Amino acid sequence: MAGDKSDGNWTYGTYLELDRLLQLQGDERGVSRDEMHFIIVHQTFELWFKQVIKELEGVRDQLGASSVPEEAIPSCVHGMRRVTEIFQLMAHQWGVLETLTPQGFLAFRDGLGTASGFESYQMRELEIVLGLTPEMRGSNFDPLNQFRKIAEKDPTQKHALDRLIRANEKPSLHEVVRAWVHRTPIMGSNPGDEGDMEVVSKYVNDHLDAFERHSKDQEAAMMLSGGMPPEAIKARFEGARIQVRDFLLPNGQFDRSRAGLLFIESYRELPLLTWPRALVDAVVELEEAMVKWRHAHARMVERIIGRRVGTGGSSGVDYLDATAAYRVFTDLWGIRTVLVRPELRPRIERPEFYSFSSVSD
Ligand code: HEM
Repeated sequence: MAGDKSDGNWTYGTYLELDRLLQLQGDERGVSRDEMHFIIVHQTFELWFKQVIKELEGVRDQLGASSVPEEAIPSCVHGMRRVTEIFQLMAHQWGVLETLTPQGFLAFRDGLGTASGFESYQMRELEIVLGLTPEMRGSNFDPLNQFRKIAEKDPTQKHALDRLIRANEKPSLHEVVRAWVHRTPIMGSNPGDEGDMEVVSKYVNDHLDAFERHSKDQEAAMMLSGGMPPEAIKARFEGARIQVRDFLLPNGQFDRSRAGLLFIESYRELPLLTWPRALVDAVVELEEAMVKWRHAHARMVERIIGRRVGTGGSSGVDYLDATAAYRVFTDLWGIRTVLVRPELRPRIERPEFYSFSSVSD
């Protein structure tokens, strides 16, 4: 079973470069069991981040092509699902860290200095590939500025800055998903087809009428229940209707991407929309898994360090809880608010275009 890389006749150890890998957990510094576990958990996260970046870049490049072949979509969905699985696995991995007692962590915490997950360049890179912008963070925190400062202090870290700059120069997954749903055929009409604007505009307006009817029915039912003052009910439903109108008709104009998403979500049963809806679902599942992972990180941190300031100098748990509010794919979340009961949807035009074998009302 002996072999080495030169003749391709690997052993388990040479293939995985185990000797190198197993030298990186601080044995030479004589770390405690607690600290070695702390290092290994971080390293496994970073290994998974590496795979996540590779998957997300692959999906971004495939989906970002000017014309995306049909067979590329299943491969994108597959990549997104793998990333979701990884985040779900990582969300459970916090449990291993929770075997560290607060006192056990304090025993070596000061030795970390200002080192913090806040400086994980792979985390920042995957956020950039997804499309998380400084504005979306709310705090306007810009990882590029952060890593510029780190590289100034320590030039050996310039490679991290370069990676982030390169990722930032490419379109994000958020942008390519938006461009892709923009091309959704709506009521049998494609962008660039003659009369496409009219078809899409009619569809959006018909849907808004349906939403208005649905919302007024719900308002009337709530009025009857008598649980809240009528003015409060009226104001709440009126506000929701305005929000939905603004979402589908920003500045009074329809947004073809949002209209495409609305179409995919509303007519999920159409055969031609099978893969588009699988892709949209996969993106939402991925973002949900990330949010849960961020939330679980905050709870683990609360349990181990309470409300202390983080080693990176942030407010700690409060900062981490704020990161769980990040949303990149806001339209994919927003579209849920806009849907109506199936029987209220505008009647589908050109059903044969979506490969109906028989048409039913
Ligand atoms: C005892 C274990 C841990 C504690 C107490 C802890 C605590 C914290 C705190 C307080 C922050 C906020 C920034 C700061 O002020 O430092 C933070 C950020 C972060 N931590 Fe942890 N952490 C732990 C383990 C981990 C592990 C294993 C990872 C895996 C890579 C990780 C990844 C991150 C990341 C990526 C951030 C940045 C979050 C963001 O800005 O969105 N942490 N951590």
